[in-house]
Amino acid sequence: GLVRKPAAFISTISDERGSELMYSGVKISEVFDSQMGIGGVISLLWFKRRLPDVYTKFIEMAIMLCADHGPAVSGALNTIVTARAGKDLVSSLVSGLLTIGDRFGGALDGAARMFTSGLDRGLTARELVDEARRNGVLLPGIGHKIKSVSNPDYRVQVVKEYVLKNFKTHPTLDYALAVERVTTQKKDTLILNVDGCIAVCFVDLLRESSAFTREEADDYIKMGGLNAIFVLARSIGFIGHFLDQKRLRAPLYRHPADDFMLEMTEPPRIQVDGRR
Ligand code: ACO
Ligand code: LMR
Repeated sequence: GLVRKPAAFISTISDERGSELMYSGVKISEVFDSQMGIGGVISLLWFKRRLPDVYTKFIEMAIMLCADHGPAVSGALNTIVTARAGKDLVSSLVSGLLTIGDRFGGALDGAARMFTSGLDRGLTARELVDEARRNGVLLPGIGHKIKSVSNPDYRVQVVKEYVLKNFKTHPTLDYALAVERVTTQKKDTLILNVDGCIAVCFVDLLRESSAFTREEADDYIKMGGLNAIFVLARSIGFIGHFLDQKRLRAPLYRHPADDFMLEMTEPPRIQVDGRR
């Protein structure tokens, strides 16, 4: 009989071989007929399931709110400088994306782990904050350069209000808000930031909805994919900044020399025998 050649790759999210393209087993015509939107497409391709509207709307909301935050943030600035150096769309986009990490936009995974770890170990908010300080680590998802208690981040308020109103239970968000009450006692800017808020709400989506088993939810938290929300969202803004610079015919950028403090000392002369 026929012997099937062993497959080099296994792939489980899309199939284009039949008459209709399928996302996780759902025909593309059904994707459109059901009006699942981009949140529904993300739930099929990222999580291989149809999430209820309340969650696909949450995903869409997070993407809309994180799409851009002005030209001054690390990633947008990189994209702008790269576009002005005459580079193409993909180069400018990735130069922006490469700034996303623990400090800028990429704190979701760390926040999800940190807050679930505190919650699961039964630590009070104060104990989690003290533990982080003892370990010399900053709490991912806490702190902002310009937003503060007195200058609140509208994005965080929108996400928070939506989840408090529409998710049946939200223990991780509640816990993160308790942590925020502790950190903002120290400094006004140590708020639950947009990364942190989306991350803990995502943990509540994964853990508290019946769409995932607890094991699946905790696997996603460990896997390190939650930053994808920010990466996808901010790509929209970075592309906007690329087009903006090209439209403006912005010339090559050179930073003003007087904005650098140049400090140089002559290096020690090292002799052949290694003596200085
Ligand atoms: N957890 C605990 N303490 C903190 C945190 C934190 N996350 N962030 C700052 N602090 C403390 C600092 O240790 C410092 O304390 P000290 O005065 O006793 O030394 C004080 O707050 C001020 O710190 P700065 O470094 O001046 O804060 P800055 O405003 O420059 O930093 C930043 C902002 C980078 C966002 C910082 O808070 C941070 O690294 N947070 C964690 C990472 C994170 O969530 N990033 C995502 C930001 S939102 C986004 O990018 C979309
Ligand atoms: C962002 O969304 O880019 C930020 O919250 C970071 C910032 O400093 O504005």
